[in-house]
Amino acid sequence: MSPSDTNRVTPDTLLAMKKAGEKIVSLTAYDAAFACLLEAAGVEILLVGDSLGMVLQGHDSTRPVSLEHMIYHAACVARASQRALRVVDMPWHSYDSPEIALASARRLVEEGGAQLVKLEGGGAVLEQVRRLSAAGIGVCGHLGLLPQSVESPDGYRVQGRDPEDAAAIRADALALQEAGASLLVLECVPAALGAEVSRALRIPVIGIGAGVDCDGQVLVLHDLLGVSPGRRPRFVQDFLAGRGSVEEAIRAYVRDVKDGRFPGPEQSY
Ligand code: KIV
Repeated sequence: MSPSDTNRVTPDTLLAMKKAGEKIVSLTAYDAAFACLLEAAGVEILLVGDSLGMVLQGHDSTRPVSLEHMIYHAACVARASQRALRVVDMPWHSYDSPEIALASARRLVEEGGAQLVKLEGGGAVLEQVRRLSAAGIGVCGHLGLLPQSVESPDGYRVQGRDPEDAAAIRADALALQEAGASLLVLECVPAALGAEVSRALRIPVIGIGAGVDCDGQVLVLHDLLGVSPGRRPRFVQDFLAGRGSVEEAIRAYVRDVKDGRFPGPEQSY
């Protein structure tokens, strides 16, 4: 164990933060330079998201991202990261069955340095989550808007608005926790549902467009810096606008999440 290992953020650190009511800060990272910068600014979770397919590769969805791409970017982040927890997305079709999921996740851990792997969905992936957990691989669930299931640009819509959908999201969240997930990302749901799911779960819930009462927040780094191509979703704030440097923008985001100022009502549903 190197001296820095003792300060590492682990799933237990995040559980303790949730219990203490301290907000958890996460951002996407796809390379070494930003991994360093984000850690220095106090970001606790580096998410190597398959959003890289859109912001780095120029695709109009996350579906073209391959396991090789994810391993490449996860390893870039891992080489630079000393402290934050590294969560790496499992790309589309890399977890179609429990066997495929286990083989893919092992590569993300062994070659990409992932500490948790993230997969999208509820009931359809519970067996995969059980299999990964049983093999000692940490899992982060992802509910609400599921980017890998979006088939056209107008599919990026708020989820869980009607009571039946909200109940399904609540039930899936509990089922993922029981299957062994140690973290949950909840995307693009009404703030009231974000609050309810966060209260109901033992594990931390990290919101993106899910309101200020989630246990933590995540954004796509390029959205926070205002450099993402295309339409900006309501839940995004450009933290670079009016600030002098990228570092200042990231520090402002960390501060605003910690203080419960981000997201405000104008970034919530
Ligand atoms: O791929 C990604 O960046 C994500 C976030 C949107 C949560 O999954």
